[in-house]
Amino acid sequence: MADLAQVLRQLPKPDDPNLLVGLDTADDAGVYALDGDTALVQTVDFFPPIVDDPYTFGQITAANALSDIYAMGAKPMTALNIVGFPIRKLDISILSEILTGGQNKLTEAKVALLGGHTVDDSELKFGLAITGTVSRRAIITNSGARPGDSLILTKPLGIGIITTAHKAGLVSDAALGAATKVMLTLNNQASLAMIEVGVNACTDVTGFGLLGHAHEMALASGVSLEISAHNVPVLAATYEYARQGLVPGGARTNRSYLDTYVRYDPQVSEDDRIVFCDPQTSGGLLISVPREREALLLATLRRYGVDGHAIGHVSQGTPGGISVT
Ligand code: CO
Ligand code: CO
Ligand code: CO
Repeated sequence: MADLAQVLRQLPKPDDPNLLVGLDTADDAGVYALDGDTALVQTVDFFPPIVDDPYTFGQITAANALSDIYAMGAKPMTALNIVGFPIRKLDISILSEILTGGQNKLTEAKVALLGGHTVDDSELKFGLAITGTVSRRAIITNSGARPGDSLILTKPLGIGIITTAHKAGLVSDAALGAATKVMLTLNNQASLAMIEVGVNACTDVTGFGLLGHAHEMALASGVSLEISAHNVPVLAATYEYARQGLVPGGARTNRSYLDTYVRYDPQVSEDDRIVFCDPQTSGGLLISVPREREALLLATLRRYGVDGHAIGHVSQGTPGGISVT
């Protein structure tokens, strides 16, 4: 994470007045003005399989790729597939199932698939580039969090730990089923709810875990965050697997990277600390909403079928700092 960020920082900054959101704030998607009213929102994501079933993997990958567009308060319009496929090792029917799963999610999201590109690769990988649009006045970035805001999380954590237990052959059907259901859920309804209510900032929780993405939001917004550990929703069985050491390498990498920024109250358990750094695939939205609209946002999320949780608030303090109590 630190190494990659370093490389990105060294890239020359594009000098283009139409570039509204670029690399500098580690936001979910890039935003580029088309005219005075409308902006283009673009993102790309791809990764190796995290579940066995190719169709489900395709669906999850599409839901995950779309999420960065929803996190910006934008509407996804078109998609392109990106595929690395070991053509001599795997049956081509597997590719067909993956792409069908992806297409199925795009259809649910009312997004048009325009094409894609496949290369012969030593390892299977699938992802999508997504393009959406947003009104320039309605862009929701990760840099608008204000002291006093409430923090809302729309999906439970534990995806990385449960899929790691799955890879070790130690997962229960119930735990894997619950995690898969979370990953398959589009963030479209959560996004519509936050657009309706009006919020200050948003990001989706993916590879850097809750605390990693919370840190990015805090840094970009120039604020600190306070998170109450016992209010953070976590999938059942996550702690059981974490205690067995079924923790993805990424969780430990995130944890040690974030050590400089995160202060844990001594009462916060070691299990919580690792779960809060667990990399998520197709995780929920982390939303910063003015305190007086917290109840309205939670009610609106519920009306859209989304179970939002108030997990903390925004404060003044060291930009990027997080205190977990
Ligand atoms: Co994101
Ligand atoms: Co992010
Ligand atoms: Co992304």
